[in-house]
Amino acid sequence: QSSAVRDAAALLAGARRVVIFTGAGVSAESGIPTFRDALTGLWQRFDAQSLATPEAFRADPALVWGWYEWRRSAVGRARPNPAHVAVAAVEALRPGTVVITQNVDDLHERAGSAAPVHLHGSLFAPRCFDCGHPAPLPAGPADEPVDGRRLDPPRCTACAGPVRPGVVWFGEALPEASLRHAADAAAACDLMLTVGTSGLVYPAAEIPHLAVRAGAAVVQVNPVPTPLDPVAEVNLRGPAAQLLPRLLDALG
Ligand code: NAD
Ligand code: APR
Ligand code: ZN
Repeated sequence: QSSAVRDAAALLAGARRVVIFTGAGVSAESGIPTFRDALTGLWQRFDAQSLATPEAFRADPALVWGWYEWRRSAVGRARPNPAHVAVAAVEALRPGTVVITQNVDDLHERAGSAAPVHLHGSLFAPRCFDCGHPAPLPAGPADEPVDGRRLDPPRCTACAGPVRPGVVWFGEALPEASLRHAADAAAACDLMLTVGTSGLVYPAAEIPHLAVRAGAAVVQVNPVPTPLDPVAEVNLRGPAAQLLPRLLDALG
């Protein structure tokens, strides 16, 4: 494992344009409920399709808004872990590094990453469901839903429509500008560090393959094998909060 860390550090040392692509695994050690874990407790009788879709929001805006505010409050109680901090450290060492994430939490930002590209939106960018007008976050920490679940969404100041989470739902397209920014960065990089993603959900999962097609080296950090194993020049097999700091140490 230490030789793999040394190999990864050598690739990072020689890289001029770095892209770091992260998924739910980078936040796992912050205790953020992963997408599947977020359906436990009060929410366990729901399934993703019944909450993370535009139809679900139209059918019961207070239930969907309540779930996302519950998740936003969970994120607020969590803290960036050493993996998020190491990602921000790479950005400081390699100016021009682009961070692309599939996560909707703000832990990269709270660890010091300036402007991560959120391919699946963010819990911190609510907008009007009808006219798309950006809405302010409810003041203070997210309220606890009233009956443990439902929370009436705020109203749009421009059209009085219901405010929705700024998260990409099942069946929704990814934000076009973000996807283009991510694809351009992947096609222009010479090193792609993928951290904590299963590489299963498209179109986000396409990003590392764009880097490979552009001749970039891929370093993967994940405790388990993924479809990216065959294209990764180095596979760091383990948790990101342990391996990313070791990668930085090996950089010297
Ligand atoms: P979501 O995961 O339902 O939707 C996000 C996107 O992923 C959509 O394009 C959706 O179509 C697609 N998608 C999600 N699960 C899928 C599946 N099983 N099969 C096929 N497509 C799927 O939205 P969410 O629950 O509100 O979460 C938004 C994003 O946050 C997701 O991408 C989710 O994986 C990710 N996430 C973030 C954290 C975190 O913030 N730390 C943790 C876990 C997951
Ligand atoms: N360090 C690194 N990786 C980890 C860690 C850790 N401590 N813990 C878990 N992982 C890995 C898991 O092995 C898994 O491969 O993180 C990955 C998480 O996979 P997913 O839960 O599928 O998260 P993600 O890849 O972000 O999912 C992609 O699918 O759930 C939808 O739209 C959602 O954006 C999400 C997309
Ligand atoms: Zn509106």
